[in-house]
Formats: sequence, C-alpha cells, structure tokens
Amino acid sequence: MKFSLTAASIFAFACLSSVKADSYSDAIKEFCDGLQVTAPSGSEVFVAGQNATVTVTRTPNSHEKVISGLDLYSVDSNNNPKYIQNTWYGRYNLNTQASISDEIPADAAAGQYMYRVWVTNLINGQHGPDCIKTSRTFKVTTGSHVNDAGFVSYAQALDDVTIFRPEVAKGCFGLTVKSPIEGSTHKQGEFITIELKRDSASQTDLLTKIELYKAVDGVNDDLVETVWNGNERLANIFSYKQHLNNPGLDTNASYYYKIGVTSEHGETCSFKSDAFKVTA
Ligand SMILES: *[C@@H]1O[C@H](CO)[C@@H](O)[C@H](O)[C@H]1NC(C)=O
Ligand SMILES: *[C@@H]1O[C@H](CO)[C@@H](O)[C@H](O)[C@H]1NC(C)=O
Repeated sequence: MKFSLTAASIFAFACLSSVKADSYSDAIKEFCDGLQVTAPSGSEVFVAGQNATVTVTRTPNSHEKVISGLDLYSVDSNNNPKYIQNTWYGRYNLNTQASISDEIPADAAAGQYMYRVWVTNLINGQHGPDCIKTSRTFKVTTGSHVNDAGFVSYAQALDDVTIFRPEVAKGCFGLTVKSPIEGSTHKQGEFITIELKRDSASQTDLLTKIELYKAVDGVNDDLVETVWNGNERLANIFSYKQHLNNPGLDTNASYYYKIGVTSEHGETCSFKSDAFKVTA
C-alpha cells in the first residue's frame, strides 16, 4: 500500500476541513450526545399491521428533552432511505427512557425499515436544538404462520439477502458517489473532484478513507494509493479534490475510488465511485 501525503493532498485536506462547521458539531455534541434509539433492535421482525415499540434512552444531563416526532422509513432497492410516514408527533418527556407503540402500516412491503426519532431540547420551555436519531433497521414481512409445533414461518425467508440485505443492516446505505461519473476522462496532473451525496436519513457517520483503485477483475483490483484517511463527520454534500499524480499510470485502465465510512452503529462500510479513465 502506498500512502503519499503530497502538498496537493494537504491542500485538499485543508479544503475538506473548512467544510465542517465546528460550532455546529460542538452544539450537536452538547445537545445530542448520549441519546440512543434502543428499540426496535436489528434482530426484530414485524408483520405488516403489527405494532412496534420504539424506545429512546438518554444519559441525563442539564438539558430538558422531549420526543417531538417519529418517522418511519424503509430502505429501497437502490440502498436509499425512503420516507414512509410520520407516525407520531407531539411532546413526550424524555427523562432517561421513553417508549412509544406504533403500528407498521398493514400495506407495508416486505423489507428493511427504521424509525427516525426527533428529539427536541427545551431551553426555558422554548424549542431548542433538535437531534435526529435512527433505530437499527429491522425486518418487516407481509405475513406469518404458526404451525402445529408452534414454529413461526414468515411470508418471506428471513435469510433472503435480496430482501434483507446485510449491508443495509449494518447501516451502510444512503450514500452515493456522484463524481467522478461513469466513463469520464481525467488528465494526469489535474484535479479530480470526488463528490459524495449523503441522504439526511442515512446511517453513515464518519468518512475514514478515500482510496484510488485500478480495476483488474473486480476482485483483485490494485490499490494505487490511499488518497486520504482520517475521521470526518459526513455532511450531506461532501467534496474532495485529488491531484492526479499517478506514477504507474495506465491509460488503458479503468480507475475508481473506494470510500471507507463508518455507520452510526460502529460498523465499517465501503462505497465505490463509477469507473473513469486517466489520460497522460
Ligand atoms: C398500536 O399503535 C397505535 C399507534 O399507531 C396505538 O394507537 C395503539 O394503542 C397501539 N396498540 C397497542 C396494543 O399498543
Ligand atoms: C493500450 O491499448 C492499446 C490498444 O489496445 C495497445 O496497443 C497498448 O499497448 C496498450 N497500452 C498499455 C500500456 O497496455
């Protein structure tokens, strides 16, 4: 593995850092740390039409908090969060733990779902900063059947990875690499923009690595260089400029970036950009 910290990448890192609003992330930390949606858990299965219990816990501190809203999302086949409905809004006191029972719509399609919980901080009784937390994704099936021996079988096999995708269960969804685009050509010595678009309901959390790969056969691709590594909170639009300076340039090859991310659940995710070419 080659790691080159060139002047260009230091420059790019400076640009990257300036994207982050420090005061904003400090406020989020101050008001939102210690909040967790502990139920539904990742192993729960619901039949459409059944009730789920949503539980939010907090570490008590001086900030008064209420649960102000609850939204249900699914994750679509393109790995993007899809808003289903606002299932509840109001003011529900959150001291150390609060639970709300909510019905999964009877016409919900089989798949992976999550709750997104709005927690509002009250400052002198007034609406202060909001925090948004998501539950783990859980499984929804369209029906179940209990046989004579008491075993439950579901309308969809729970190990069907086309419906219940392991990457989604890890929180690896809702992030798209918008640039570079498929088949684009870039010139050695120039800058290339790597642009990430994160859905606001994504469970991706920190950007940890950007790597440049040369495509070989899709399995044993060559790592050309680690372009950047660190721990940066992902904004909804994220861009990074890399100075293309590849000593072993192969103008016939296809290149792509591999983006390393962690999820809110502490899992490791990776996303790939489209393939592009580099000319001399
Ligand atoms: C199920 O959830 C609905 C809200 O969607 C609530 O009105 C109802 O009381 C809940 N039922 C049970 C048995 O908890
Ligand atoms: C690139 O492809 C062309 C045409 O197929 C070939 O002539 C050339 O040798 C290749 N170059 C490299 C570096 O593989």
